[in-house]
Amino acid sequence: MSSSEKYRALKGMRDVLPPDIYLWQQVERTAAELFSSYGFNEIRTPIAEATNLFTRGIGEGTDIVEKEMYTFEDKGGRSISLRPEGTASVVRCYIENQLHTLPSPQKYYYAGPMFRYERPQSGRYRQFYQIGVEAFGSASPVLDAEVISMLCHFLARLGLTGLNVQINSIGCPTCRPGYIEILRGFLGDRQTDLCSDCRRRYLTNPLRILDCKVDGCAGVRQGAPHVVDHLCSDCSDHFNTLQLLLSHLEIPYTVNHEMVRGLDYYTRTAFEVTSANLGAQNAVAAGGRYDRLVKECGGPDVPAVGFAIGMERIIELMKQTCPAPVRAPALYIAVLGERALQRGLGIADTLRNRRIWVETGDYTASLKSQMRKADRLGAGFVFIIGDDELAAGALRWKLLSDGSEGTTPFSAVTSFFESRLR
Ligand code: HAM
Repeated sequence: MSSSEKYRALKGMRDVLPPDIYLWQQVERTAAELFSSYGFNEIRTPIAEATNLFTRGIGEGTDIVEKEMYTFEDKGGRSISLRPEGTASVVRCYIENQLHTLPSPQKYYYAGPMFRYERPQSGRYRQFYQIGVEAFGSASPVLDAEVISMLCHFLARLGLTGLNVQINSIGCPTCRPGYIEILRGFLGDRQTDLCSDCRRRYLTNPLRILDCKVDGCAGVRQGAPHVVDHLCSDCSDHFNTLQLLLSHLEIPYTVNHEMVRGLDYYTRTAFEVTSANLGAQNAVAAGGRYDRLVKECGGPDVPAVGFAIGMERIIELMKQTCPAPVRAPALYIAVLGERALQRGLGIADTLRNRRIWVETGDYTASLKSQMRKADRLGAGFVFIIGDDELAAGALRWKLLSDGSEGTTPFSAVTSFFESRLR
C-alpha cells in the first residue's frame, strides 16, 4: 500500500465508537445481571477453533459451513476457522473441561465477535457480536420455556417492544426422516420451479426449502405439510408442553411452520424473535434445542438448549427509540501555572477515586482557552485554580449550565462537589 492510500476497516466489519458504545455496555451489563439471576455463568472461549468442529457441529451442507467461514491454514498446516457462531465452541469447551461432571443443568453465557463471510447489508455484517446462552443437561421443555422467557425479559429490560416470538418444532431423528420424505413427496414435480439452491437442498436438506427467502420458492412450498403434524409422540408432547408453559408465563408467541433454522444441530424446539422495525434482517435473536450435538462432538449424551442475540440489531432498535447517551466530564479543572496544576491533579485524583469523571486543563494555556475547552467537552462544572486562589486557600467554581459561580475552600472541595452532584 502506498503512503497516499487510506486504510479502511474490512468490508462488513465496523468500529464501535462513543456514544454507541455506551449502549453496548448497557446491553452487556443487563445480560450479565439478568442471566446470572437465572444461574447462567459467563464463559469465554477462543475466537478460533479447528475447522472440523464447525463442519461437524453446524453441518457440512449449511450455508455457514459451505460459503461463509473464514478458514485458513496456520503455520503448522492445521485448518483453523474464525468462529461463525458460539454454540459449537461452547460444546467443545463443555466436553473438554468435563463440565458434564458438574451438577445439571450447567448454564453458560458468552459475548463476543463472530465471523461470517456473508454479503454485507443493513443489519448483516461479516464481523458481528452475539450474546449467547447455552444450558446443558435437561431434556425437559421447562428449560426451553425458561430460556425463551429469559430472552423476553432481557429484551423488555432494554426497553424493546413490538417483538414477535416465533416457535416451531423440527422433530428428532425418530420422526424427522419420515417428515422429510413426506415433504419431498409434496415438492416432487414442483422441484423444477425452485431456486438452484433449493433444487440442491431437495436432495441434501429439504427442510431448508421451507425458509428460503427467494420469492419463487415461497410459492412452490405453499400448502406444504407442517413438521409439527408429523412429530413422534415424544416430540409432540415436548412441543405441546412448551406451548402450555409459554402461555402460563404469559409470553405471546406464534407457531411459524416455516422456521427451521440454518444450522443442522437443532432437534425439537426452534425459536426466533423478530422485529418489524429492522428491514430484511429482522431476527433479533434465535436459538433452539440441540439434544445430540454434545454426543456428536465426542461427549456424553447430554441434551441442551440455547440462543444467541445479535448485538448490532439490538443496538439499532434501541437507537430507534432513544439516541445513545452522550457522556461528558462532570468537572473540568482549569489550572493556571505549575503550582495550580499540582493542586488540581490532587483534587482530580480524589474525585476520580469517587468515580467522578474529571478532566484537567493545560496549565500553560490561558484561562480563556481552558474555559473554551471545558465548554466544548460539555463539562458540568469548572474549577479555576490560579495564584490568587492558592493564596486565598479557596478555588473558584462555575456551573456551566447556568453560569452561576462562587468559591469554596480547598479543604471542602469533595463535599462541595458531591453535594452539588446530587
Ligand atoms: P443464528 O440464527 O445463526 O444462530 O444467529 C443468532 C443471531 O445472530 C441472529 O438472530 C442475528 O440476530 C445475529 N446474526 C447472525 N448473523 C449475523 C450477521 N451476519 N450480522 C449481524 N447479526 C447476525 C446462532 O448463531 C446459534 N448459535 C444460536 C444458538 C445458540 N442456538 C442454540 N444456542
